Amino acid sequence: KSFKVAVVVGSLRKGSINRKAAGELIRLAPEHLEFEFVEIGDLPHYDEDVEAAGAPDEWTRFRQQISSADTVLFVTPEYNRSVPGALKNAIDVGSRPYGASAWARKPAAVMSVSPGAIGGFGANHHLRQSLVFLDMPVLQQPEAYVGGGFDLFDDAGELTNDDTRKFFQSFIDAFAEWIDRVATRQ
Ligand code: FNR
Repeated sequence: KSFKVAVVVGSLRKGSINRKAAGELIRLAPEHLEFEFVEIGDLPHYDEDVEAAGAPDEWTRFRQQISSADTVLFVTPEYNRSVPGALKNAIDVGSRPYGASAWARKPAAVMSVSPGAIGGFGANHHLRQSLVFLDMPVLQQPEAYVGGGFDLFDDAGELTNDDTRKFFQSFIDAFAEWIDRVATRQ
């Protein structure tokens, strides 16, 4: 059985190391996983008054893309030891209207990538806090706090380090196994 994976990247910038890392995970993934990048940069700030007046097209598009996926892969930077605002907004947009969350029960995985040594741990775990509330079973191991992010890729966009590639491989393989275990039961 194949599964559709929504890929949500927490950075909006073109040269994002997190977007590159997501691309690498997709390249290494088993063939039965189909990936779609779901963009978050155009989503208006969540506002219940706006919802009551009629959801903007961007929110509807985002909710439909998440809803139509079987599972979600988050790859995010850390901003001020937490989740970037754009990603938190996307989480909030997808969680509403009340009772119709697009996220509910979809298996997920989180990778954080940072130039620093802590590897985005703060963002990774603050995101997990929201995912618990959203009832998303999140892959526990291996944890993926990827530090040294500016040295990960060469100018051609290739991973510079074989150990990193092996780690990325083990992460995406574990996610595929997690999806098999969780998604098929739903
Ligand atoms: C950062 N950065 C950062 N890095 C980190 O490891 N911990 C942090 O708390 C922060 N805080 C932070 C706040 C803000 C507002 C910005 C813009 C940046 C640095 C960040 O990791 C770096 O810019 C990465 O390159 C962002 O990831 P992308 O965009 O390359 O994927």
